[in-house]
Amino acid sequence: MNPELEKIKERLKNSASLAVLTGAGISAESGVPTFRGKDGLWKSFRPEELATPEAFDSNPELVWEWYNWRREIISRIRPNQAHYALADLEVNVPDFTLITQNVDGLHTLAGSKNVIELHGSIWRVKCQRCKKSSENREVPINILPRCGCGGLLRPDVVWFGEPLPEGALTAAFSASSGADFMFVIGTSGIVQPAASLAFRAKESGAYLVEINLEPTPLSKIMDAVIRSKAGEVLPELVF
Ligand code: OAD
Repeated sequence: MNPELEKIKERLKNSASLAVLTGAGISAESGVPTFRGKDGLWKSFRPEELATPEAFDSNPELVWEWYNWRREIISRIRPNQAHYALADLEVNVPDFTLITQNVDGLHTLAGSKNVIELHGSIWRVKCQRCKKSSENREVPINILPRCGCGGLLRPDVVWFGEPLPEGALTAAFSASSGADFMFVIGTSGIVQPAASLAFRAKESGAYLVEINLEPTPLSKIMDAVIRSKAGEVLPELVF
């Protein structure tokens, strides 16, 4: 192992409280498309037509078709070495919180326990009328899906212009404030408020390590950056 990775691993072993912020890049090696970059979803699709409450109000069929397509992709794939390494780390660090922007559910499938899903889950639906949220793993889901109360069901994910689930956000800020070590993995770091969690951890004195193939706006506040694939480097850091 290179000396820089050794140093990071040593520090990790002494960490009492680890927070991890993940984005689409951690699932890329499993085959889940990222949002930005060369082959990113937002290169081929317009978020305002598919990922806003207004889009759903004006064309729920189209929005559900797009989510069905993403559900089909995600249902066929498995967690990768990066997801499994984080699940392994959780066992050894006294206080561990995994904050993810991903809606794919792969962290939980890999065995992670303390997971905060900041942007919701593609495997949950929420009723537009009674607001009840429930798990739904149908692939494909019947378009248009209805709640028991008769209301229209929508994907229980956060769309552009919507607030994040309050409980999840509060828990994420609290974990970031209390962490002595934070990994920021596979996120472009431009979507708020998720990106600000790294700043919160920094202000609170955490040691910050970014794992990303490319520099991001968060790179400048990092104590160390690792420019490798998450699935290649994270297993080396498990102790
Ligand atoms: P992005 O698609 O914006 O960024 C993915 C990041 O992962 C990029 O910085 C890549 O360089 C990096 N990356 C790709 N493959 C990698 C690998 N194998 N190992 C390490 N890094 C890798 O995804 P997010 O930052 O997650 O929001 O996007 C944030 C939010 O924007 C998403 O949650 C979604 C989107 O609009 C909502 O849907 C609300």
